[in-house]
Amino acid sequence: MAHAALSSIRAAKRTEGITYAVRDIVSLAQEVAKTGKEMLYLNIGDPNKFDFETPAHLIEAVHAAMRHNHNGYSPSSGILSGVEAVRAEARSNGITSILDVFLTSGGSEAIEICLTALVDRGENVLIPYPGYPLYEAVLAKLEAKAKPYFLDEDNGWQPDLDDIRRKIDSKTRALVLINPNNPTGAVYTEQTLRGLLKIAREHGLVVFSDEIYDKMILDPKKHLSTASLDPDAPVITLNGLSKGFLAPGWRIGWGVVSGRQGEMKDYVGAINRILRARLCANHPMQHAVKPALEGQTAFLTETRKKLQRRRDITFEMLNAEGISCVRPEAAFYAFPKLDIPMADEAFVKGLIRETGVVAVHGSGFGEKPGTKHLRVVYLPPEEQLRKAYASLLAYLKKNRK
Ligand SMILES: Cc1ncc(COP(=O)(O)O)c(C=O)c1O
Repeated sequence: MAHAALSSIRAAKRTEGITYAVRDIVSLAQEVAKTGKEMLYLNIGDPNKFDFETPAHLIEAVHAAMRHNHNGYSPSSGILSGVEAVRAEARSNGITSILDVFLTSGGSEAIEICLTALVDRGENVLIPYPGYPLYEAVLAKLEAKAKPYFLDEDNGWQPDLDDIRRKIDSKTRALVLINPNNPTGAVYTEQTLRGLLKIAREHGLVVFSDEIYDKMILDPKKHLSTASLDPDAPVITLNGLSKGFLAPGWRIGWGVVSGRQGEMKDYVGAINRILRARLCANHPMQHAVKPALEGQTAFLTETRKKLQRRRDITFEMLNAEGISCVRPEAAFYAFPKLDIPMADEAFVKGLIRETGVVAVHGSGFGEKPGTKHLRVVYLPPEEQLRKAYASLLAYLKKNRK
């Protein structure tokens, strides 16, 4: 029998814009690791890869759920106890106009569902540069456009409100803000948040307020939930168990929709159509949501203490010749600026090959043209961090000319 000529299966064009620098850099690191080189990983925001463990009371809650055979599907919006705990937490953060709450497979799925339910092909969404790359990847998949606005390094990485205004057009549907921020570690001021809300209200934009690091504030600075500042603004507040509760592999996140009922009715309906179509988030792990939000928080104090010390080492060591770093106020990331002749991606690749230190190039998160950065994750223990930064600085010194 004759065979048709072999041709490769054509991938969908919409996948071409989907990149994720954090994981893309891993294949190079794996290649280098195979040569037997000692690797120091400063690239992945996974606390459980280091000396942080999921709190025992959460593990016990999941274990008990499995024992009680809560292993079938859950309601599409999540189990009642989890949904109610998230609602109560949102209320205690000052969000009064809650319209809907749902549990998802990580904050990632909430982001994907809420963007999918909102944005049509050809429309656009304002996203921060630098920022978490998932938003841009999802928009590429939706054949929509990411419109980057800049965070201002000279102003503690607060969003540049004038830049946001300049970038809005008739096809703009939403404004994404990540607070506390990945990759800069900045916490936004009330003035910034009010400014962002004002712009969103003026232009009828939905605000995506990604607050997944809100339990990891390292300075005596208060984190404000965006939606608490304006009950009438259409806001999706995103959070989950991955970061503050040290369980990223459980893939549990959530979304809280707030705003005016009349204005949000269709949108909430669309979100729920998608929630139903994908059945539910991981069921047994949802049973950890209530104990996470209502149980003991000693582990959080411990986590913050460790991170404060690691942040201080980072800030101290990464302000040297050829490198400068704004002091991170939260989370476990820093985004130092590099004074180097080559592109930051080339710098990072050379750094990995030569020193085994794995960081991610700033261009993977977006940055102002002409600037060069590096994102480091300061989750590793102090000695590992010092060693990695010393290698990084030595490599920088050699490659500055
Ligand atoms: C800002 C931000 N949002 C969302 C996520 C995704 O979190 P999850 O593990 O809940 O999907 C991350 C993960 O690194 C993140 O940094």
